[in-house]
Parts: sequence; C-alpha cells; structure tokens
Amino acid sequence: MPSNTPIIAADKIPADLYPVIKSLCTVAVDVVKIIAKGPLGQSLGHEVGENSDGDGQKALDVLTDEMFAADLKNQNVRWYASEEQEEVVELNPQGTLALAIDPLDGSSNIDVNVSIGTIFSIYNAKDGANESFLRPANEQICGGYIIYGPQTGLMVTFGKGTQYYLLDPDTGTFVLIEDGVTVPADSNEFAINASNYRHWTKPVRAFIDDCVAGVEGPREKNFNMRWVGSLVAETHRILTRGGIFLYPSDARPGYEQGRLRMVYECAPMAFLIEQAGGQATDGSDPIMNHQAEKLHARTPLIFGTSGKVARVATYHDLPEEEVSALFGSRGLFRN
Ligand code: AHG
Ligand code: MN
Ligand code: MN
Repeated sequence: MPSNTPIIAADKIPADLYPVIKSLCTVAVDVVKIIAKGPLGQSLGHEVGENSDGDGQKALDVLTDEMFAADLKNQNVRWYASEEQEEVVELNPQGTLALAIDPLDGSSNIDVNVSIGTIFSIYNAKDGANESFLRPANEQICGGYIIYGPQTGLMVTFGKGTQYYLLDPDTGTFVLIEDGVTVPADSNEFAINASNYRHWTKPVRAFIDDCVAGVEGPREKNFNMRWVGSLVAETHRILTRGGIFLYPSDARPGYEQGRLRMVYECAPMAFLIEQAGGQATDGSDPIMNHQAEKLHARTPLIFGTSGKVARVATYHDLPEEEVSALFGSRGLFRN
C-alpha cells in the first residue's frame, strides 16, 4: 500500500474521533490476516479460559482484546471496557474518550470459517471508569462494527446516518461505499435461535408462530428464517436486506435478560440500526433509552425493519389473556 494513502479517508469522520477509527481499522487489518491464516498460523478457536460472565474464552477472543487494547493505548482513549475484561481498564490517563468493545463477536464461528466481527461503542469519558459506560445509550458519540467475512467492512455511525466502508484487499484501505445506509423495509426474514422456542415468553412465541404459519396464518405471507450465531453477521444482513433479529429473554436460568450485553453489543447495534431508519428495542422500549446497571449487564434485543419491530412491541403490550387467546384464534393481527 502506498505510504501516503490513509487506511480510511478522513472527510466523513469527525476529526476528534478519526485517530481512534484509524486505530480500529489498523488492528482489524491484522486481525483479518490472523483469521485468514486459521490453523496454518495458530489455533484460534480453542478454549483458553472463562470471562467474568462465565462465557468460555477462545484464543482469538483474548488475542483480539490484547491487540485492540495495545493500539488504543496510544490514542485519546482513557477508559476501555471489554467483554473479555472484568473491569474497565485505564489506557491513556490523558484521554477524553471511553470505548467499549466486543473484540471478537461470534466466537462459536471461528473454527467453522463463518463471518465474525468486532463491535465498538464510544462515549465522551467521565471522571469515573464505570460511569463512563453506565449511562443512556443515546449518549454514544459513535457506534460500529467491523465484519470479518468473505469481505471485510466497517459499519459506523457518528449520529448523522450510518456509513459503510469496505476494505480493498489490493490497497489495504477502507473505502466508503455507502453513506446513508438504510434498513430495507420490505424483507420477510426473521432471525432467532428457534431451538429455544419452549423457553420463550408467550408474546415471542405468538410473533414467531404467526411468521411460521406463512400464507395460511394471520400474516398471510411466507417468511424465511436465518440464524448465523454472530450478531455482527445478522446485523450486517439486516442493514443490507432488512428483516428482524430477536434475542429475547427466556426461561433458562441466566437468560432472564436474554444473552446479549448492553454496553458493547446492544447499544452500538441499536445506534447503527436507528441511524439507518430501523428500530431496536428490548421488546417494548427503545434500547437507545436504556442504561446498563452493570458493565456486563444483558438485555433482550429485538431490532431491524421498523414495522416488524413495532409489531413485536404490540404483542408485548397485549394483556396476558389476549396473548393466550392468540394461540387459539390467530385472528387479532390479520392485515
Ligand atoms: P460472543 O461470541 O461475543 O460471545 O457473542 C455471541 C453472541 C452473538 O454473536 C450471537 O448472536 C449469539 O451469541 C448467539 O447465541 P446462541 O449461541 O445462544 O444462539
Ligand atoms: Mn458478542
Ligand atoms: Mn465476543
């Protein structure tokens, strides 16, 4: 790559955030190489321990966390909150930003050569480490992800729409290919881990039952289902061709608030989706109005095409007797 070509063009990125975005992109290019090499380089998907939440940590989870933290230490980032670290870490005491990160999202897909990613969220730092992140999601100044798939891309928002940059492997630079990404409105795809059906609440079951019933059901149309197991890949599909994603709360112990983490998974995805004209809720309320009570707190997450997310909220708003009645009559939501 020519030495005078920046890894990502500066003109659409707020000047105060540009060095941090550049740092994330620089590390991402190295991560891409490690992923592409797979077991020819080092074993990436083997378990090396557990994070604070009791989730198994894979070698690549730990490695990417170290790589991002090491580079961001030289930037204007004071507080670094990572899925892989129990507490917030102080990187640069002079820094004015607070950055939360899921360094490697979709770790169950590392060894099967399926898209994975990095999710990040940026706030202006406060004096306290935790208070810099335990605040309403609508105080984010940047949210985004990097997807490592057949193509590598950066989806990012600074609160003025959602931008998509694609890594050109010939030049090693991220090229802006879409400024003003919008969630398409006319998709009939839903994404949920259907193996948990028996654990879901009635409103979620009613919504999915109605999708699965297809043309014979109250929705009177057929739906298609996808479940990748990488939030980044699901979000990327929805930003590209619409649809709805659900990781609701369910009856399994530990899943009372779903699975996904508010600070470094749900908040940045909600920011990207809302800036692209979609909606993101916990089933009823916008994620952007939420505030995590603990660094690794979870929240149910439902997002995508606006009309579909609003419909799920309608199911949640019904009194219990009416949701139960849905199982019998299936008539309430006839279009
Ligand atoms: P992570 O790899 O960072 O722990 O995140 C995995 C998440 C998310 O990417 C995905 O949507 C979800 O876990 C999949 O969960 P299930 O295995 O329960 O389907
Ligand atoms: Mn994740
Ligand atoms: Mn992760």
